[in-house]
Amino acid sequence: MGNTKLLEKKNFIDQCIRNGVLLNKEFLDSIDDFSAVNPLDLARKDMAVIARYNTKDLAELSPQEIERKTVYIEKKRQISALEIASPGSDPGPKDPLAEHMHGVRGNALLGTIKVVHSYSEKAKKREVQDFVGYFNARYRSIEKLLRNRQELGAVTSISRVLTKKDKETVSVIGMVKEINLTKNGNMSMTIEDPSGEINIIVNKTKPRLFSFACNITPDEILGVTGANSNKVIFANNIIHPDIPNKEMKKCNDETYALFLSDLHVGSNHFLEEKFERFLKWINQESGNDEQRNIAAKTKYIFFLGDIVDGVGVYPNQELDQNIKDVNAQYEKCFELFSKIPSHINLIICPGNHDALRIEEPQPPFYPDFSGRFLQIPNATYVSNPSFVNIHSSENFSGFDVLIYHGYSFDYYIANIDQIRTSGGYDRADLVMKYLLERRHLAPTHTSTLYIPDSEKDILVIEQVPDFFVTGHLHKTSVSQYKATTLISGSCWQDITNYQIKVGHHPEPGRVPVVNLKTREMRILRF
Ligand SMILES: [Fe+2]
Repeated sequence: MGNTKLLEKKNFIDQCIRNGVLLNKEFLDSIDDFSAVNPLDLARKDMAVIARYNTKDLAELSPQEIERKTVYIEKKRQISALEIASPGSDPGPKDPLAEHMHGVRGNALLGTIKVVHSYSEKAKKREVQDFVGYFNARYRSIEKLLRNRQELGAVTSISRVLTKKDKETVSVIGMVKEINLTKNGNMSMTIEDPSGEINIIVNKTKPRLFSFACNITPDEILGVTGANSNKVIFANNIIHPDIPNKEMKKCNDETYALFLSDLHVGSNHFLEEKFERFLKWINQESGNDEQRNIAAKTKYIFFLGDIVDGVGVYPNQELDQNIKDVNAQYEKCFELFSKIPSHINLIICPGNHDALRIEEPQPPFYPDFSGRFLQIPNATYVSNPSFVNIHSSENFSGFDVLIYHGYSFDYYIANIDQIRTSGGYDRADLVMKYLLERRHLAPTHTSTLYIPDSEKDILVIEQVPDFFVTGHLHKTSVSQYKATTLISGSCWQDITNYQIKVGHHPEPGRVPVVNLKTREMRILRF
């Protein structure tokens, strides 16, 4: 590079610094004529900007130092985009600039995301046998969890219980095949394991157990202890696999994670102004000191499905849309998401409105429809459901997050008394607790549409998450069940007539925020 060009480049970088803008190296290298590019334009459009810095911090650096930092930050971003930042891995050289950035101290500028599980199997033809294999796989996984329950110490196979002649106390594990009320008002339930099936009677004279049993759902896998008599078990106890108690995990640095859901971009009801208010805040351009502090220290934003409104989701949907083409809907998302500061990790999963198969597990977004939306450099795209670990470091194992859009929730709200009569659509937390107890995201066959995988049932909740996060109900709820925080994102779509008709009470424009150091939760309203 000649001296004149070098000088032009230096002046150009100086101007950028004065405007608080740092450019990526690739972009700098691509400029032939620096005098033809206006740094103010770059600052406005966010084009090629990889980070915004406090101008005072940047002013102290030479252009060469700026370039060095740029390369380093680009490398760190690549690690994040590839979803490989495992605990114990080399954190890289300490970045002194990161210590000044937005007041965040420490060298974990971008945080870490590890995708523990994201479904990506290719489409293939399924046979009846796949369904059999699928339920067997589910049974094996949940049976293993139930065998850890103390109350089920001596589990016997159902076929063995059927051969017993003497009355004795037995324990069995089975999948619920049928539930009925008898003429006498007792509950009769048939459960099956790979060896056979047996009838369970829950007597109404045991009111606590009886009301507990009233919330059993078909196809769930549970344990029963009781008295065996003539090929029937009179239940004394019914046990769900449930999640164990454990200590609530906290990290050492003040870092925030946000949970958004159901943007429905493309819908006439998409609340763009509200979302722009959110974008202004996350860019630290609005809010009081405390709110700006949260924005500055946010490293993770989850987007929990229904990113776009989609096409053909219901009849005449196009009449409710201002963007009718799904590619254009995702392009609009690209524009909006690109306004989020690039040092924040975005974790994005699809929902039932997004442009891919509705059957779960839904793979991450299809490139055919998503275009540039799939090229956001600070985004990690995962399946629905998926399991990720965030914020791990050399000394901290990170937080496990179970991500599920929540398509099955409608079924449990409509069919389970304890949920329907305690708030229904307003209580996503009750549905989440219900599913955690059963260690499955959709225990009843008809509660969601699914692809049977005979190797593994992806909807089984194998690992106990620190956070179980969902969307779909368009209403925020935040709750705690044992050491697991339950979060339902809000929505950015205004209330529709259909929602009012079916009893939803959406609350758009709310953002649940968690302080990962204290595990305190709050809900911001936009
Ligand atoms: Fe939605």
